[in-house]
Amino acid sequence: MTIERGRAVTPERLPEDLAEPSLRPRRLAEYIGQDRLRQNLSILIEAAQARAEPLDHVLFYGPPGLGKTTLANILAHEMGVKIKTTAGPAIERAGDLAAILTNLGQGDVLFIDEIHRLRRDVEEVLYSAMEDFALDIIVGKGPSARSIRLSLPPFTIVGATTRPAMLAAPLRDRFGAVYRLDFYDAAAMEQIVTRGAEVLRIPITAPGAVLIAKRARGTPRVALRLLRRVRDYAEVRAAGRIEDVVADEAMRLMEIDDLGLDDLDRRVLETMILKFGGGPVGLETIAASIGEEADTIEDVVEPYLLQLGFLDRTPRGRVATEHAYRHLGIQPTPKPGQAPLF
Ligand code: ADE
Repeated sequence: MTIERGRAVTPERLPEDLAEPSLRPRRLAEYIGQDRLRQNLSILIEAAQARAEPLDHVLFYGPPGLGKTTLANILAHEMGVKIKTTAGPAIERAGDLAAILTNLGQGDVLFIDEIHRLRRDVEEVLYSAMEDFALDIIVGKGPSARSIRLSLPPFTIVGATTRPAMLAAPLRDRFGAVYRLDFYDAAAMEQIVTRGAEVLRIPITAPGAVLIAKRARGTPRVALRLLRRVRDYAEVRAAGRIEDVVADEAMRLMEIDDLGLDDLDRRVLETMILKFGGGPVGLETIAASIGEEADTIEDVVEPYLLQLGFLDRTPRGRVATEHAYRHLGIQPTPKPGQAPLF
């Protein structure tokens, strides 16, 4: 097991994140942040309802933990239809997808998470299903085999991916509406923490909420996980109320610093700076030095470091920026004969 899986600040879904389904907003009006996206979805829903048609196929893409699954559920709820949830790697055969599709009712939503990981033959079934609401099925074998077309009630595919570039163009083109989710700003993060505390019935002060929000890396899933861990701390070690001092103590115990960096983030930066003079250094080299997988570093460590401006990706490798040195309190050492770097 890599360290990544147990990190309190990982944006990837952990089993504990599923424990409190009531934390997820059910309606668009309860959804905080992503304002432009919310407006677009509201128009999409209203227009489909006015025409009494199912929603267009919708694709959400963006980093993990920002609410793609939540939005898929909100879409179904607002449309008053059922939702069936699956994931790219879970559909092993074309026949499995055909079985799911034939069980959908009129207007229902089929949510496919990690849609970039569909097998090619499964994906091909989806093409005619999305475009014509039809399944082409081969009956018989050998020379007497023929194809029959089965029509399906109109339905909506909602796809989600963290890797939009890995989607085949014919699949991407079949989504009528494509939306990117961005990291949340400070105000939205604070509201999400405050709402989460209400749902969990844990008293929290405004400075307490700000402190947690600031460490949650612009990612609601991380914010709510930190909130649950701070709640445990507050209940066991404080008076069951999240004040900023209490939240701060809990974060220290988890070794999460004031920007939400944890041990793994700091080790990546420190390795780059102390072992490789701040870079440029290749991703594989960093990964080998700290004993992590290169994919883990690329997918779940780098996005936030890039967003903070602590890291640059250059053609010659990764470079730690001045901000990273300052944050870690490391003085850059100029090469002999060179003026101070900053
Ligand atoms: N819980 C998780 N994400 C949320 C969001 N964007 N709005 C409200 N509650 C949330």
